[in-house]
Amino acid sequence: MKIPTTPPSEYPTGKLKPNFFAALNERITELNSTGADIIRLDIGSPDLPPAPHIVEALTLAASRSDSHGYQSHRGTAALREAWGKTYQRLHGTHLDSETEILPLLGSKEGIFHLSLAMLTPEDAVLVPDPGYQTYAQGARFAGAEPFAVPLLPANDHLPDLSSIPAEVVQRAKILWLNYPNNPTSATAPLHYFTQAVDFCRRFDILLCHDAAYTQVTFNGYRAPSVLQAPGAIDVAVEFNTLSKSHNMAGWRSGVLAGKSETLTALLQLKSHADSGHFFAVHEASTAALNEDQTWIQARNAVYQERRDAVISALSEMGFAPQVPKASLYIWTPLPNSWDSNEFVLALLEAAHVSLAPGSIFGSHGEGFVRLSLTQPLERITEAMERIRSKLHILTTKEKDNVHY
Ligand SMILES: Cc1ncc(COP(=O)(O)O)c(C=O)c1O
Repeated sequence: MKIPTTPPSEYPTGKLKPNFFAALNERITELNSTGADIIRLDIGSPDLPPAPHIVEALTLAASRSDSHGYQSHRGTAALREAWGKTYQRLHGTHLDSETEILPLLGSKEGIFHLSLAMLTPEDAVLVPDPGYQTYAQGARFAGAEPFAVPLLPANDHLPDLSSIPAEVVQRAKILWLNYPNNPTSATAPLHYFTQAVDFCRRFDILLCHDAAYTQVTFNGYRAPSVLQAPGAIDVAVEFNTLSKSHNMAGWRSGVLAGKSETLTALLQLKSHADSGHFFAVHEASTAALNEDQTWIQARNAVYQERRDAVISALSEMGFAPQVPKASLYIWTPLPNSWDSNEFVLALLEAAHVSLAPGSIFGSHGEGFVRLSLTQPLERITEAMERIRSKLHILTTKEKDNVHY
């Protein structure tokens, strides 16, 4: 079985690439129906719950009789202020909560809609390769051209902005960055953000930084915000989310912070596309940001233990994974020039362990796989054992003889 990679001319909608995970889910459902126990290390949905005070805030607000109507597209003033205080606390950055903070229905919603709000068909959009797929998909949907900027190990997975052809830079309207990075787990120092801000100011490009993993960090590492870079507020916006930081992926609570004109453009589009969020989610998000944060450190220690287990098991098996300072992922090259899609499918069929193939994140992701840390340690340890037991099949060049 192979999950096909469809050329753009054959996308069913004419614009959107089919989602790999939708096809993968179908195969996993089939396997589950035969009684197979699949360990899923392919997606990054936190397995642990949010802190109890966040759930209590939701319950309390949901039980109010006046909490069920439509809400403002801008969220509540309390939520905007809570994000403002969070940026001050984490990054020492002052933001005007009226004009420089816009709550979102999860950051993915904002990332996709921002492309529709900002782009026209003549525009180019600079997207990291490998990178989170929504940057390029949003650009395509707006009719613009995503231009892949490679994230190479030799450059610490930071785009070399000077390598982008001048003609593309002239047409570029947005530069997407994402650190801590999905899928490579790389981090960016503040001085890189400063260079990116200068580049974007010089060429009149909007710098969009996706900070989804800023608060999933290990060994005391603190991830900077792009808004800490001097002058960033004039050229940059940052997407943030409670999905990973506070284990609230299903609650759909994110934010866009930074350059106010960009927030206004997105707000205008959103006023046509959605009707605000449930008041109880605003209240719970406010509690998540304002109240006790110490549990986040304890949660990160859990991920760190899982990270160490995966790194040591993969290293013993002869893989060469990078040890991440942050994010929910381990990114590792594959042995024997395996095609990443084929490897993932072979592993799923042979070991009932599901990983994400690097190729779905862009052509520079080929030859790598991504493992997610969002399963309990026992399941992760079992997954490593299963991989180890099938490694003789997976690492020999007899892959064409693997029956799946
Ligand atoms: C890099 C990156 N950005 C954004 C998102 C979307 O997060 P949200 O749940 O806030 O939509 C994800 C989700 O996996 C992600 O990996």
